[in-house]
Parts: sequence; structure tokens; C-alpha cells
Amino acid sequence: MAYEYILTEKLATGIGLIRLNRPRALNALSPDLMDELGEALLAFDADAGVGCIVITGNERAFAAGADIKAMATASMADMLKQDLIARWETIHRIKTPIIAAVSGYCLGGGCELAMSCDMIVASESAQFGQPEINLGIIPGFGGTQRLTRTIGKALAMEMVLGGRMLSADEAQRFGLVNHVAPVETYLETALKLAAKIAGQAPLAARLAKEAVNNALELSLRQGLQSERQLFQMLFATEDQKEGMAAFIEKRPAQWKGK
Ligand code: CAA
Repeated sequence: MAYEYILTEKLATGIGLIRLNRPRALNALSPDLMDELGEALLAFDADAGVGCIVITGNERAFAAGADIKAMATASMADMLKQDLIARWETIHRIKTPIIAAVSGYCLGGGCELAMSCDMIVASESAQFGQPEINLGIIPGFGGTQRLTRTIGKALAMEMVLGGRMLSADEAQRFGLVNHVAPVETYLETALKLAAKIAGQAPLAARLAKEAVNNALELSLRQGLQSERQLFQMLFATEDQKEGMAAFIEKRPAQWKGK
């Protein structure tokens, strides 16, 4: 499928690669780009040959935020009617694990998009921020919520109220980022991690993602209950039988996704 604002590629390693592709606007997340991103995510999620999705930008920018020009003159009624953010929600319906490979600016909606992924691999030049306050607004796609749950209230307040940016190293130290790699190799690092995940038992990987994400949404009691159910459910799969048989027979498992 040909897109205008993103590039997609299915790699032999079972990875669905999505590149945000509005370089002249630092990959600002326009409504059209977000529609295309949603479509591409749903298509990869429905593809049994894709076990992990990687979203990336370019060296200079993962994404510098929602498209300011597309909302500069909007009224509150426009925002309520169009609900520009509603189209962003598609990413939360995706069951396949998603990795953000981030370099350069990762700001506002860009940072919120990266945080909506399951893991983040950053280049040494990555800069994370929620600078919406400088525009007279606040984050609208989870910035105040996901950031606070990940890095804690004190630092989240400083970023959301003061516009403080985090370097890649700081973001890793505060638990926002999994790995930091040189600019030349950050995508390769992300793809290596993605290939490892794409090689896991597909149903277990999907339920693992769901279970960990539940920890951010549910009470401990509900989370533990849900985890128990997901764990028990996997005993209905052929891959559980295969995985345990392969361990006992000291051979690699052959996953079927069944
Ligand atoms: N929306 C629309 N266009 C953007 C953009 C954005 N978020 N960020 C950058 N651009 C455009 C610029 O307008 C410029 O386009 P023109 O050449 O046509 O003028 C081009 O990208 C290059 O940007 P700069 O010339 O500004 O590049 P710079 O290197 O001097 O600065 C920057 C880089 C510091 C990232 C600066 O562009 C910037 O501050 N961008 C805005 C960051 C921001 O405020 N993001 C939050 C957006 S609101 C949001 O995301 C809401 C939400 O929570 C959902």
C-alpha cells in the first residue's frame, strides 16, 4: 500500500517497519499522517507474518509533536467535533509488540507516540520533551499521564510545566528508554530487539504485552487476576505444548502461533 506521509516495509525477520516521513516538518504528526499510521499499524497487526512493529523517524526527528499548523486556528468546538486525538487511539488497539526507534526531536505528541509504544530505543542525540506549555496548551495524548507513571511526578512536572527536555541518557536513567545507541546504529539496535521479539511464540508475546500494560491500568489485585487468566489461557495453545516439549527434548521450539 502506498502512503504519502509514512513508509512501510515488511522485513524478512518478521518485523513491520514504519517510518514517519514528513522530514521538512520534522515529522509533525498531522491528521493525515496519523490516519496513515493507524492504517499501517492495523495492517501489520493483522499480518500473521509480523511479530513485532518498529516505528521510527529520521536522524533529526522522530516527531516534533502534533502538527501545530493544523490546529493553530481551531476553536474548542472544532477540537470537540473533530476530536483530532481520537484517531491517535488506534495504537492502543494493536496487540503486536511495538518498539519506537527514536533519534533527534521526540517532542509533544511525538514523545506521547513513543510512550504509547511498548519499548523505546534511542539514539544518543534523542531529546524527549512535552513543551506544549510554551504554546499555551498542555499535552493531549497521554503526556501528563504516561510520563508521570514512568518517570515520577517531580520530573514530569518539570517537563510539563517548565518545558524541560531529557537527553537520551537521562531518559534511560529515568526509565523512559530501554537502550541508547549511537546515531549510526540506533535503528539496527531496535531492529535486533524487534527480531528477538518477532521470534517468540506469537500468542505468548501478545498476551505478555497485554499483561505488562495492564500493570499501568489496573489495581494490583485486578492485574494479578488478569495475569493469572492470561497465563492459564496459554495452556490452550499448541505453542505451549511445543515450547515445553522442545525444552525437555533440548531442541529449538518451532512456533505455530496456534
Ligand atoms: N507542527 C508543525 N510544524 C512543525 C512542528 C510541529 N509540531 N515542529 C516543527 N515544525 C516545522 C517548522 O514549522 C518548520 O517548518 P517551516 O520550515 O515551514 O517553517 C520545520 O518544521 C523545521 O522546524 P524549525 O525551523 O522550527 O527547526 P529548528 O531546528 O529551528 O527547531 C524545534 C526545532 C525545536 C523542534 C522546533 O521546531 C519546535 O519547537 N517545534 C515544536 C515543538 C512542539 O511544541 N511540539 C508540541 C506540539 S503540540 C502537541 O504535540 C499536542 C499534543 O500533545 C498532542
